[in-house]
Amino acid sequence: MIDLKGKTALVTGGSRGIGKAIAFKLARAGAEVIITSRSDASSTPVVTEAQKENLKISALSGDVTSAADCRRIVQQALEAFGGKLDILVNNAGITQDNLFMKMKEEEWDQVLATNLTSLFHFCKAVIRPMMKQRAGRIINIGSVVGHTGNPGQVNYATTKAGMLGFSQSLAKEVASRNILVNVVSPGFIATDMTAQLNEEQKTTILEKIPLNRLGQAEDIAGAVLFLAGDLSSYITGTTLHVNGGMY
Ligand SMILES: NC(=O)c1ccc[n+]([C@@H]2O[C@H](COP(=O)([O-])OP(=O)(O)OC[C@H]3O[C@@H](n4cnc5c(N)ncnc54)[C@H](O)[C@@H]3O)[C@@H](O)[C@H]2O)c1
Repeated sequence: MIDLKGKTALVTGGSRGIGKAIAFKLARAGAEVIITSRSDASSTPVVTEAQKENLKISALSGDVTSAADCRRIVQQALEAFGGKLDILVNNAGITQDNLFMKMKEEEWDQVLATNLTSLFHFCKAVIRPMMKQRAGRIINIGSVVGHTGNPGQVNYATTKAGMLGFSQSLAKEVASRNILVNVVSPGFIATDMTAQLNEEQKTTILEKIPLNRLGQAEDIAGAVLFLAGDLSSYITGTTLHVNGGMY
């Protein structure tokens, strides 16, 4: 059993999908969790749901494409947690798919800002406090597409592949302070993000998944819990693939 009692965690994009499942998984293991979302309106139902289970989940809102918002969120989380942040999960992410020939500069910029530059801002803001604590876990949510590429996702695949180099390098820089940096790379998971796929696309995807089903947000949350707890204390700079065997 993984016990996170006394631990604090910040999960970006925690109002739905994978981020929400991660927040509940960490809170059920005993952690005090803050989720971030773009608006209070989207996080309030999650906080209410958590209260019914007596879980310690609260929320802060902000746009992860804004450096100022990322810094403020970390500052407010540290204040709420009495200056200690043990676990950061960089989960917020978007797709804006288009064939490269048609891809607009805004689609490139928006996806890079949301999925990759936000990583820089959040990690930058937590790294000093974690170094002082001489402990920390940073878990970044990648994608199988960052390893394989995918037509129509040049922007998205770039961010998820970039996340790997970022995480491996940061892991080496901060290992001496007992801060572990890892990536969880989901395959295709049933969330709002994949709800946009049509039946033909879903059939094509299922043919590539040996376990013959889309993953559930819970499947990713389990991997994050593992990387957040004591069972993984000798694992850093690596990627945990959670994709039903497709890669
Ligand atoms: N669903 C999948 O199949 C799949 C596969 C591989 C990787 N992923 C990754 O998992 C993560 C979560 O995906 P999901 O499927 O739960 O998606 P989702 O669309 O259901 O949730 C994404 C979350 O990110 C938040 N977010 C997006 N842009 C933001 C911004 N500018 N500021 C603040 N918050 C913002 C959203 O509000 C939402 O809470 C993403 O990083 C995604 O790339 C998902």
